Amino acid sequence: MKIMVVGGAGYIGSVTVEQLLKAGHEVVVFDSLLKGHREAVPPEATFFHGDMANQADLTRAFETHQVDAVMHFAALSLVGESVSHPSKYFINNVANGLKLLDTMLEYGVKKLVFSSTAAVYGEPTEWPIHEDFPHNPTNPYGESKLAFEKVLKWYEAAYGLRFATLRYFNAAGATARVGEDHEPETHLIPLVLQVAQGKRQSISMFGDDYPTPDGTCVRDYIHVVDLADAHIRALSILDERSGTFNLGNGKGFSVKEVIDVARKVTGHAIPAVVAPRRAGDPAVLVASSDRIRRELGWNPQHADLESIIGDAWAWHQTHPQGYGVTAGQA
Ligand SMILES: NC(=O)c1ccc[n+]([C@@H]2O[C@H](COP(=O)([O-])OP(=O)(O)OC[C@H]3O[C@@H](n4cnc5c(N)ncnc54)[C@H](O)[C@@H]3O)[C@@H](O)[C@H]2O)c1
Repeated sequence: MKIMVVGGAGYIGSVTVEQLLKAGHEVVVFDSLLKGHREAVPPEATFFHGDMANQADLTRAFETHQVDAVMHFAALSLVGESVSHPSKYFINNVANGLKLLDTMLEYGVKKLVFSSTAAVYGEPTEWPIHEDFPHNPTNPYGESKLAFEKVLKWYEAAYGLRFATLRYFNAAGATARVGEDHEPETHLIPLVLQVAQGKRQSISMFGDDYPTPDGTCVRDYIHVVDLADAHIRALSILDERSGTFNLGNGKGFSVKEVIDVARKVTGHAIPAVVAPRRAGDPAVLVASSDRIRRELGWNPQHADLESIIGDAWAWHQTHPQGYGVTAGQA
């Protein structure tokens, strides 16, 4: 198939592009490079520098490339920033996304895989979290993703758009070529690895008195290659139907466990300090991925924390400045 990957120069998008190419698909990456990196796009993919906000860019991309389906990763995704600047989030994640959908339909493209998030559930008090749990986002980022999910439902009813919505928990890990380089970085694993790289003095553990086995928050980490595999499987249902699926390991790891495994993988002491709890941090966020396992035969191949952190560490060692400077090129 020929797939347009919107946001394909970003972290998860670029790994998915790599896996799509490996699986024999043809790929066009559409990205504004607002957050992404041109270097993350493999040379075998066609790169289109464009912004969803700009209708002329979208029209030109679909005019030039007749694609069978779209994977839509492009979004702003900083929770804190979404609270202080909700407008940016609703404009990019909803309004600009609508432009993408309308342009797809104009060019007869009716298949979409959409990156949603665990943030649509808000702060559930039970786990594992199933897809039909209540949707109560507690920040504009999660709300903007939920709003777009709802748009998809109505576009299916009215225009026959088929979608696979994938609600990711915490993406982590890397391939040899592509890894995580966000600015600012807010995710635990790359932050912990920054301590091992000497870029930070210590890692903060926000609260150690949660009702969890070691008192620190428990989260679900999924290897980015397993995430990419789920996207490719999701394409296969779109001839027949739409669907919404959680994507997580189904197994939680605490903040302390992540730090301990990172110490083992890196051989660095990684000093950790306890900081006050952050507002809106639930004790445990772990997905049930039963639906995607059952319906799409998805089965994570890199589910253990050592492989996830080991692969991330390997990438950071070869890319000590992220995409800025690659080891051996400096
Ligand atoms: N990283 C995670 O753990 C995680 C968890 C849950 C959901 N998600 C979702 O997955 C998706 C990908 O996440 P990521 O970590 O790879 O993010 P990322 O920021 O690395 O990638 C997003 C890409 O989209 C591009 N983009 C943003 N707005 C655009 C626009 N208007 N036009 C064109 N390109 C645009 C950026 O330049 C960037 O390359 C996002 O939608 C995010 O909300 C990520």
